[in-house]
Amino acid sequence: MRPRRGPPRLGRRALLLSAAATLAQPRGAALATEGLRAIAARHGVAFGCAVRHRPIGDDPAYAGAVAREAALLVPEGAGKWWALRPSEDRFDFGPLDAITGFAARHGQAVRGHTLVWHAAMEAWTLRALEEGERRARGLLEAHIARVLAHTAPAIRDWDVANEAVANPWDTTELLKDSPWLRALGPGYLDLAFRLARAADATLTLTYNDYGCEHDTPHDDEKRRRVLVLVRGFRDRGVPVDAVGLQGHLHRDLPFSARKVTGFVRDLRALGLGVLVTELDVIEPEIHGETVGGVAPGPEAPDPADIAARDARAAARVHAFVSAVLEGGGRAVLTWGITDRYSWATDPAHAPRLSPLPARPLPLDAAFRPKPMWHALAAAFSGRPWP
Ligand code: XIL
Repeated sequence: MRPRRGPPRLGRRALLLSAAATLAQPRGAALATEGLRAIAARHGVAFGCAVRHRPIGDDPAYAGAVAREAALLVPEGAGKWWALRPSEDRFDFGPLDAITGFAARHGQAVRGHTLVWHAAMEAWTLRALEEGERRARGLLEAHIARVLAHTAPAIRDWDVANEAVANPWDTTELLKDSPWLRALGPGYLDLAFRLARAADATLTLTYNDYGCEHDTPHDDEKRRRVLVLVRGFRDRGVPVDAVGLQGHLHRDLPFSARKVTGFVRDLRALGLGVLVTELDVIEPEIHGETVGGVAPGPEAPDPADIAARDARAAARVHAFVSAVLEGGGRAVLTWGITDRYSWATDPAHAPRLSPLPARPLPLDAAFRPKPMWHALAAAFSGRPWP
């Protein structure tokens, strides 16, 4: 009798384990055997994500996903002024320490976000900044000294300034209106970077901004302005080490890999590191005008066709990340890891056109890898997509 062909026979223990694994796996989920952190690392890329301190503590599925997927963390909110300075007489490092503690336990690096930004300050700070230059300077000096002293061992890269370059559709000025600009004049950025360097000689000092990702006249002009800003830093001897491209991608805006790669090369030629800091995908038929700035075109997928939406988002992510890596970028962070916790699925921050869920991130709301996850893995591995 010929031996029966078939799968190798499993022992009882292996059968039980495999049954348990099947039960633990959400239905229809692709089994993610290793995280993006391992895949990226094999190709010399650091992959990471923004994190929220609360679910890291109370949602084990989220904590597990962050530990598996990310080699690098950035606090989504815990490093901003209103988190660190709830009142003038108090610094609160609790949420940020929870994140650096988690990172230490999981062998992850942490980058900081953000020391100077026009947003996310409590009313007391805004009032104080209106009291004049001396007061504003004192606040900035104290903040940078105290925060960098506290975080120095754990955080070796900070977004010293965030979103300081003006949007071309608002003004022809280089710098965006900001309480800091009003209080300290256009030299406020030079001051912030110099203070950060004085506080920590080996910290990576990063300038972070958005609007440099797509192929529109606005993006062309924003890229030009960011280059003017960092060339100005260099010419004035202001210390800056890296530029972060936020990467809030718009699924349907025109895109040019050549322009993105060229921009990254221009920054690299100035001696700057380049990284993607806040990658996610905005979908115009789901999000409101205030987020995307563009209405869905006639060829946009039916919002109910999740597979078509995901496929287009994944293709855009692959194209963008590949273009940045081609130019010499070596780190990529998504702005969250799961659609369960994202500013883009939070109606408070992202006004919606549609009752259907937004799908901005690599894992869905049940932590299953989406096409975007696989597109990132392909981009890190230098594989084409799809
Ligand atoms: C967003 C957070 O994701 C929200 O939860 C928060 O309340 C508002 O800020 N660019 C940035 C980030 O640099 O700090 C912003 O984060 C998203 C846009």
